[in-house]
Amino acid sequence: MELDPSITAVFKKTPLEFYLNGTRIQLFDPNPQWTLLDFIRSQHGLKGTKLGCGEGGCGACTVVIQTLDTSRERSGRVKHLAVNACLFPLIGVVGKHIITVEGIGNSENPHPLQERMAKLHGSQCGFCTPGIVMSLYAMIRNSYVPATKEFRLRESDVELEGHLDGNLCRCTGYKPILQAAKTFITENLKGKIVGSGETAEVSHDSECSEISYTSEGAVKSNFSCGRPGGCCKDPPKTAGKSSPSGKSSSPKRSEDSSETRSIERSSTSESAISSPDESDSASISGTTYGKPIKSNEKQSSDGTPVEGTKIGSQLDASVPKIEHGVPQYDFACYSPNTELLFPPALRKFDQNPLFYGNSTHVWLRPVTLKQLLLIKDAYPSAKVVGGASEVQVEVRFKNSSFPISIYVSDIEELREIDIVSNDVDLDTIYEVVLGANTSLTDVEAFCRDLSRRLGQRGSVLEAIRKQLRYFAGRQIRNVASLAGNIATASPISDINPVLVACGAFLTAQSKSRVKFNLEMPTFFTGYRTTTLPDDAVITHIHIPLPPPKAIEITKAYKQSKRKDDDIAIVTAAFRVRLDDDGLVSEISLVYGGMAPKTVAATSTMKALLGKQWHSSTTLDSGTAALAQEFDLNFGVPGGMPTYRKTLAISLFFRFWHEVIADLKLGKVDPDLITEVHRGISSGSRDNHNPHEQKIVGKQIPHISALKQNTGEAQYVDDMPPQDRELYGVMVLSSRAHAKLVEVDWSPALGLGLAMGYVDKNSIPKEANLWGSVVKDEPFFADGKVFSHGQPIGLVYAETALRAQAAARAVRIVYEDLPVILTIDEAIEAGSFFKHGKMLKKGAAIEERMEDVWEKCERVFEGTTRIGGQEHFYLETNAALVIPNLEDKTFEVWSSTQNTMETQEFVSQVTGVPSHRVDARVKRMGGAFGGKESRSVQLACLLAVAAKKEGRPMRCMLNRDEDMMTTGQRHPIQSRWKVGCTSNGKLIALEADVYDNAGFSQDMSGAVMDRCCTHLDNCYEIPNVLIRGHVCKTNTHSNTAFRGFGGPQAMFITESYMTAVAEGLHIPIDELRLRNLYKEGQLTPFLQKIDQDWHIPLLVSQIHQEANYDARLASIQKFNASHKWRKRGISMIPTKFGLSFATALHLNQAGASVKIYADGSILLHHGGTEMGQGLYTKMVQVAAQELNVPIDAIFTPDSTTYQIANASPTAASSGSDLNGMAIKDACDQLNERLAPFREKFGKDADMKTLAHAAYLERVNLSANGFWKMPRIGYTWGNYNIETQKPMYYYFTQGVAISEVELDVLTGSHTVLRTDIKMDIGRSINPAIDYGQIEGAFVQGLGLYTMEESLWTQDGKLATTGPGTYKIPGFSDIPQEFNVSFLQGVEWGHLRSIQSSKGVGEPPLFLGASVLFALRMAVMSARKDNGVNEPLVLDSPATPERLRLAVGDEILKMGTVVQREGEKGFFVTVA
Ligand SMILES: Cc1cc2nc3c(=O)[nH]c(=O)nc-3n(C[C@H](O)[C@H](O)[C@H](O)COP(=O)(O)OP(=O)(O)OC[C@H]3O[C@@H](n4cnc5c(N)ncnc54)[C@H](O)[C@@H]3O)c2cc1C
Ligand code: FES
Ligand code: FES
Repeated sequence: MELDPSITAVFKKTPLEFYLNGTRIQLFDPNPQWTLLDFIRSQHGLKGTKLGCGEGGCGACTVVIQTLDTSRERSGRVKHLAVNACLFPLIGVVGKHIITVEGIGNSENPHPLQERMAKLHGSQCGFCTPGIVMSLYAMIRNSYVPATKEFRLRESDVELEGHLDGNLCRCTGYKPILQAAKTFITENLKGKIVGSGETAEVSHDSECSEISYTSEGAVKSNFSCGRPGGCCKDPPKTAGKSSPSGKSSSPKRSEDSSETRSIERSSTSESAISSPDESDSASISGTTYGKPIKSNEKQSSDGTPVEGTKIGSQLDASVPKIEHGVPQYDFACYSPNTELLFPPALRKFDQNPLFYGNSTHVWLRPVTLKQLLLIKDAYPSAKVVGGASEVQVEVRFKNSSFPISIYVSDIEELREIDIVSNDVDLDTIYEVVLGANTSLTDVEAFCRDLSRRLGQRGSVLEAIRKQLRYFAGRQIRNVASLAGNIATASPISDINPVLVACGAFLTAQSKSRVKFNLEMPTFFTGYRTTTLPDDAVITHIHIPLPPPKAIEITKAYKQSKRKDDDIAIVTAAFRVRLDDDGLVSEISLVYGGMAPKTVAATSTMKALLGKQWHSSTTLDSGTAALAQEFDLNFGVPGGMPTYRKTLAISLFFRFWHEVIADLKLGKVDPDLITEVHRGISSGSRDNHNPHEQKIVGKQIPHISALKQNTGEAQYVDDMPPQDRELYGVMVLSSRAHAKLVEVDWSPALGLGLAMGYVDKNSIPKEANLWGSVVKDEPFFADGKVFSHGQPIGLVYAETALRAQAAARAVRIVYEDLPVILTIDEAIEAGSFFKHGKMLKKGAAIEERMEDVWEKCERVFEGTTRIGGQEHFYLETNAALVIPNLEDKTFEVWSSTQNTMETQEFVSQVTGVPSHRVDARVKRMGGAFGGKESRSVQLACLLAVAAKKEGRPMRCMLNRDEDMMTTGQRHPIQSRWKVGCTSNGKLIALEADVYDNAGFSQDMSGAVMDRCCTHLDNCYEIPNVLIRGHVCKTNTHSNTAFRGFGGPQAMFITESYMTAVAEGLHIPIDELRLRNLYKEGQLTPFLQKIDQDWHIPLLVSQIHQEANYDARLASIQKFNASHKWRKRGISMIPTKFGLSFATALHLNQAGASVKIYADGSILLHHGGTEMGQGLYTKMVQVAAQELNVPIDAIFTPDSTTYQIANASPTAASSGSDLNGMAIKDACDQLNERLAPFREKFGKDADMKTLAHAAYLERVNLSANGFWKMPRIGYTWGNYNIETQKPMYYYFTQGVAISEVELDVLTGSHTVLRTDIKMDIGRSINPAIDYGQIEGAFVQGLGLYTMEESLWTQDGKLATTGPGTYKIPGFSDIPQEFNVSFLQGVEWGHLRSIQSSKGVGEPPLFLGASVLFALRMAVMSARKDNGVNEPLVLDSPATPERLRLAVGDEILKMGTVVQREGEKGFFVTVA
């Protein structure tokens, strides 16, 4: 694009100059549509920075920007800003130092943070890990002040200041990450322990020490830290062996890169660079195994070292010793002196105006306001870009395109804050002036400092600080600006209500108009429209302070689905000024979320003016006026009308009380004026494993943990580009049910767009159908679409950006058809898939249920609904299909749990036999069932295109595409009837259970099967009739998700149990105990509860350890004396059946073990690694069986060329099935090696054995196989004698959760959770604790937070982290204790190493939080005189909880549904 000469006279087209991991970069002509993430990921060796969402909501893309703090107070200090690379404009890097996860360490020489995260199990699938590492890295680096040599980090800094609120992890349950971060609090810097307000001095030559950390906080020290930059204790070494980042893969000139850039290396690390000492560098993946074996490393069967085995590798060393139940870890110490320095050259960097771009897009970077106004004058429509947190979302998700963009965040004049220094008389300040593009983090810090000093007079600044603390995530606050928020004019802006309420005004400027003011109260003219002229920019925001003696209070409030990093449902700011008589002289009540723009409640304000504040009539007239003023209708955009209206009144109610308290006008209930508070988390793992063996049973970190923490771990989309590779993007239906009248591909094809496309015509009609159980889903829509997000075709292009643009360009004409979304609608329309399975027990078998009902003393009936759950694995579905033209083979890399099905269907769509399709996966960034079948679709679509073009095809779905196309956990509804005696003994259950399958069957029938078989949870019911129904609707096709119908079923059970308990006035715990299964009793599917029934023991152990009775009593006491704050506690058991229930054929596995002549061992099995630690456990099993150290064994990936017909890794059976198959292979090999062990000794090293066996021509490769015995349930067989068990065994557990609820808003916190599980003899307790904690937190999300919403016409509205909330760091239990069942021997465990599957079973225990909340709500209802039975469906969101309370405010806020009115959103359970 040709720029105006007046611009090019000032702005020069120059390369972008910056530093990346210590290396100077000059970037010529980069793609102007690239974000920082696009650039980083285009570089070889820099794939650690991940794309998880592209909208700033997950933190997977976090990098650190090192830059000079130019604010007056801290001028010259280097600051470290965690930012979202997915939003950050590439031009913003100029003059800065970008640090990625690769820049701080590698697996041979990790940063102490990376090492601690790995050793403390802070990484499971690892996809979130680099982002979390970088957020923590920024926090740690900002904790050190070089000038004072002070390193200050407190627990509250780690947990309460929001450093991690922009990062999500779906696997770990966050606890181990916090634990790893907190090791820096007890860091040993020059012998002093820093923490709890203490600080330690660190001099530049301070001693580094290796420290040992215990979870009890003790620290010991000894030698060199081995930092990548070198340690002051290291002996002098030659510099320059590795790159400045300590990583050989730092950016290099790339031959095939489309970008031209020059690189100049410069060391930015303070110490000399050294390569690690070879003798200490045993690789975690065992790659050094082939090296000569050290003769002094020995180990015998009892664990003492033996000749030749390679004990003492990095991996072995990281197995912690347990002392008094506490793991003891050795960590390299942290020394701030060895960190990457801010490049000295950047201190003298010339800040010049520059531009770059191409014919369609140009970026300009002015460095003065004058330069900015010049551009705006020439191009009034040019887009001003600050933090880009709004702009980039518009570009990526709303298809906005800005030909000219101006990056303004480096203009000093727009970043000034009028800072008040200590010697200024505070009374003289009447206004605070904030530079329009000052970062929110800086504004937050400024407001905190000044408001503290101003006291009550600074309440407006405190209100801003409070809003900013819970505004987006830290990464966004570090770059986003007030001007960006104001100019966006979002109706749910958090800041605008405060600015309007306090009477702020803006200074704006344009070249023609010079400076002018815009009053905030009149600034917003409508939905996202303002009075700001096009050619003007906001330069400053003026915030008036009240006169010194004024009696004025300003407060702000925000209510959202999740406390951290969530957009508001309702946000508000209130300001009141009283005269000396306590009468209202000024008042502003301003709301977000109540109208299409930020609005003042003007009628209410008028009604309150002149009123005595401290008078209940003022409060009453205020609430009544608000109820009238906000006359929301039932279908109001955004939904939740009653909740929003109730909140609007509730927040004012809180404000009224807060003003009284602050001004000491009277006494108020403290619960009314404090929001639910989260303290610093704590917790324990019992770390007691009496079954520990030499390798099995040890707490070995995940074998990829270090690679995941350093960004070296490779996921599908991290694989290097293939020769002539193309990128495919699916063309998705934008309608939920419609005829495809016309699909016109032509606009998508051509220069700069797609090279081609494939659709239903690209494969034979019969090959177009797929499905796990029934082939009923088309790969490509054929004539009709049945769901929003259904693939119609796939376009492919040279780059992802082009393919995405091409996909948007396809022209599709639809003819809409009626839509069925909910289970109720499906039942009404009779829209079902064939299923018809039933469970019958007792009288139901003889069709005598009617007789039983008559005998029941009490009968309860009800309907329970539980919503679905989005998997939200951090890595979306991805695949890379590489065709081989010579052999007509396809190598299919797919993020799949199911290599066999991937192979089968790629074979189907390409027309080649399975032996020509190698389906492979190395690891997944989480899966949770979402990649068991749904991953097949993307791989097949790409395979069709790869075959057509004869070129490799790649795609990683965008988060919204993934959420639209891949389905969720099934929403389920049950209509149940329960009969019992009057003292609560259950007699009969009859239930119809419906799951919402979506538009195709996928595994919905099997999910329903498991659901029906878990409808008893742990309770014996003599007579049972359960009917399963699979509803066909027009939502996406729902699929497997951790628990596979079990968690939904057990929620239904606990709901009917609660109804019975409340109906009979029996304590729920008592009712549960009365009905718990006893050994020998039969489940509804006629399986005998066998002698390993441990629920009663688990209940009694946890009951005692968690001090349940005393806590229950104290909660009851608390609730009796608190009206607005309630507590609840709940103890819930679970039993979960292990095996692929009725798909008998899936209960088999294969393994291949190959011993090479050097003693190294290659292991393949059918299982896939998705973060659950399967590879680690399987290596442990093989190492134990073959009597070798774990790094003797290597599993590169899971591939159908090694293991044929592998079952999906699912149903918590990965270890059971594959472990047994491995054992079988090892048994064969051990048998063949037996003569050599006899000859060389039973503990002879594998190198000696293998070499000797090879010379004797012994086969050192073995295939193992195992099929699960005993099971084989037949549906419809009600004969107890002939029926076989459905499940191999049951994993069991109990949880107790205690919560606190803010009655006024529905917000809550989990005060404490205790979990006790029977998981047999754990193969790796560390991994199992992680599975339990992670599953519980996922369950907590399912039952209290995660809610998918559809529009009335069937579009999924929750398509990213912005709208769909999973638990974050602040949502985990404040105290979180996990333990294993103690003191039992298992009589019937025939599983591998007598362990039990653990992946799915603990998830249901998250329901203990919902039932604890229910108790809290029940107490509030009692206070409010509400006696009707409470139906609390899942998820129990703040909205549902608030609406259940039944107080007077709710009555005022209730919006009545008028005839014909529909809600804005639909939930589909
Ligand atoms: C994950 C996520 C979470 C979020 N959470 C919240 C939240 O909790 N609360 C909330 O209120 N918002 C939230 N937002 C919205 C957004 O972050 C804010 O609106 C932010 O303040 C925008 O600032 P920015 O500098 O990034 O704006 P940009 O994206 O750079 O710009 C936004 C708009 O402002 C204009 N603009 C920027 N600077 C100027 C200027 N000086 N003069 C005139 N116009 C200007 C731009 O032209 C553009 O139209 C969130 C966004 C994301 C992506
Ligand atoms: S990918 Fe950037 S925040 Fe999710
Ligand atoms: S380890 Fe965090 S998402 Fe998997």
